[in-house]
Amino acid sequence: MKLLHIDTSILGQNSVSRQLTGIIVARVRDAHPGIEVRYTDLGAEPLEHLSGAHLAAAQGATLESATVLRDLERGREALEDFLAADILVVGAPMYNFTISSQLKAWIDRICVAGKTFRYTESGPQGLAAGKKVIVASSRGGFYGPQSPAAALEHQESYLRGVFGFLGITEVTFVRAEGVNISPDQRQAAISAAAAEVAQLAA
Ligand SMILES: Cc1cc2nc3c(=O)[nH]c(=O)nc-3n(C[C@H](O)[C@H](O)[C@H](O)COP(=O)(O)O)c2cc1C
Repeated sequence: MKLLHIDTSILGQNSVSRQLTGIIVARVRDAHPGIEVRYTDLGAEPLEHLSGAHLAAAQGATLESATVLRDLERGREALEDFLAADILVVGAPMYNFTISSQLKAWIDRICVAGKTFRYTESGPQGLAAGKKVIVASSRGGFYGPQSPAAALEHQESYLRGVFGFLGITEVTFVRAEGVNISPDQRQAAISAAAAEVAQLAA
C-alpha cells in the first residue's frame, strides 16, 4: 500500500495545513503499519507553471532549456507518484479564496488525458477511481454554507470537483477554519481538526 503526502503551504513552520497533514499521515501509518509513504513539499520546491514550452516538449519539440527539461521530469514523477498512490494526503491552504498556486501547478501535471481521465462518447471519464484522498484544509476565515463569505469558497469545492473528475469519489476534508480570527480560535480549530483525525476511518 502506498501513501502520497503533499504539502503546498508557503508558510513553512507556521503552516496549519502542514500540521494537519502530519497528524493525518501519522494516523494512517498507525492504521497501516508498513505503508510506503512518499513525501513531496511543493511549498519548498514548487513545480513551474505549465507553459507553452512544456506543452511543445510533450508533443515532441526539442527543448533547449535545462530548467524546463528538469521540470518536465519532475512533472512526470508527480504523475507517476499520483498513479501509484492508494491514499493521498494533501495540504490545501486557502489563499485568495482558492487553493495555493503550488497545488494548482501539481494538478496541472496530474490531469492528463489518456492517463487520469479520458473523453468518451458519453462525456469525460475519470481513470483514477479507487484512490482515497484526505485533504487538510486551512482557512483564515469562515466559509461554511451559512457564512456571509460562502460564495467565495473555491478551495474545497474545486478540489472535490477535480478529484471527482478523475474518478475519485472518496474525498475527506479535515478542516481548520477561522485560524486568523484570534489565537484562541486558531488553537481551537486545530484541536477540533486533530480530534476529527483521531476518528478517521483510515
Ligand atoms: C497569500 C495568502 C492569502 C490568503 N488568503 C486567504 C483567503 O482568501 N481567505 C482566508 O480565509 N484566509 C486567507 N489566508 C489565510 C490562510 O488561509 C491561513 O493562514 C491558513 O492557515 C493557510 O494555511 P497554511 O497555514 O497551511 O499556509 C491567506 C493567507 C495567505 C498567506
